[in-house]
Amino acid sequence: MGLPRPCLFGAVIVTNERQGPSGIPLIKNFTMIEVKKLAKKYGDYTAVYDVSFSAAKGEIVGFLGPNGAGKTTTIRMLSTYLPPTSGSASIAGFDIAKQADQVRRNIGYLPENPPLYGEMTIREYLTFVARIKGVPKSAIQSRVAESIEKCSLGDVRNKLCQHLSRGFRQRAGIAQAIIHNPQVIILDEPTSGLDPRQIIDIRKMISSLAEQHTVILSTHILPEVQSICTKVVIVNQGRVVLESALADLTKGKTLEQVFLDCVSSEQLRPDEQASGAA
Ligand SMILES: Nc1ncnc2c1ncn2[C@@H]1O[C@H](COP(=O)(O)OP(=O)(O)OP(=O)(O)O)[C@@H](O)[C@H]1O
Ligand SMILES: [Mg+2]
Repeated sequence: MGLPRPCLFGAVIVTNERQGPSGIPLIKNFTMIEVKKLAKKYGDYTAVYDVSFSAAKGEIVGFLGPNGAGKTTTIRMLSTYLPPTSGSASIAGFDIAKQADQVRRNIGYLPENPPLYGEMTIREYLTFVARIKGVPKSAIQSRVAESIEKCSLGDVRNKLCQHLSRGFRQRAGIAQAIIHNPQVIILDEPTSGLDPRQIIDIRKMISSLAEQHTVILSTHILPEVQSICTKVVIVNQGRVVLESALADLTKGKTLEQVFLDCVSSEQLRPDEQASGAA
């Protein structure tokens, strides 16, 4: 068995007079996610130039953009997996750079590839994740049962992770993301490679998560965004080119048209222009 992976974050529930569970301030219409001019360089290459957007509590944000636009890089910064080169962001009121531990307690993250341990059963795996995320011992069993139920994993809960189909692997990935009942859930292409029936089931699951969580959903499937998201953020070449409520966006235009208009620019990134790259 490998060591715990860095995306499996600790979670300790804290409560005081001015804060609710997980230390979230008790404010109506609380801005759960605030991203300001986030940028990331990999060496000389700038993957993310300028990403700013916000999300209120309970929103499902469709995070869109062509391949290489910078979605995963942004998501990794928001989940404190990668340090930003510049800019800032807060999740549930906590700064991703200065209060990374609190941010980790308040987010659940499903990376592009679910971080499963093949030789554990789903139930063993979720119990393990709950423990390392700091779920109190007395609550572990109920949290595992609830995550299994919410992600419809009951029939396969005693199956080894390595024997799961892709659809169930994704469900198990979502189950580990919600095991500590975080305020914010960040899902990086959760329906990629799934069959149409699994896609529909996972969409329903994500919609139901929004009753209790704020969700960032990175996806290339536009009908998915249209059917479940409340807000759309489109990134292109490392920049946000559109941030809009879904209801305002599609007036007179399909989301596909809006997306293509936003990303049709063939302009080079500034560093590519500077180096004269084709
Ligand atoms: N570790 C890395 N080192 C150098 N460049 C990287 C690294 N990770 C990503 N990149 C580059 O940064 C850019 C943004 O990549 P990123 O994975 O964030 O895009 P994405 O929007 O998630 O794309 P996709 O839709 O294909 O998942 C790409 O040009 C990619 O090649
Ligand atoms: Mg990606």
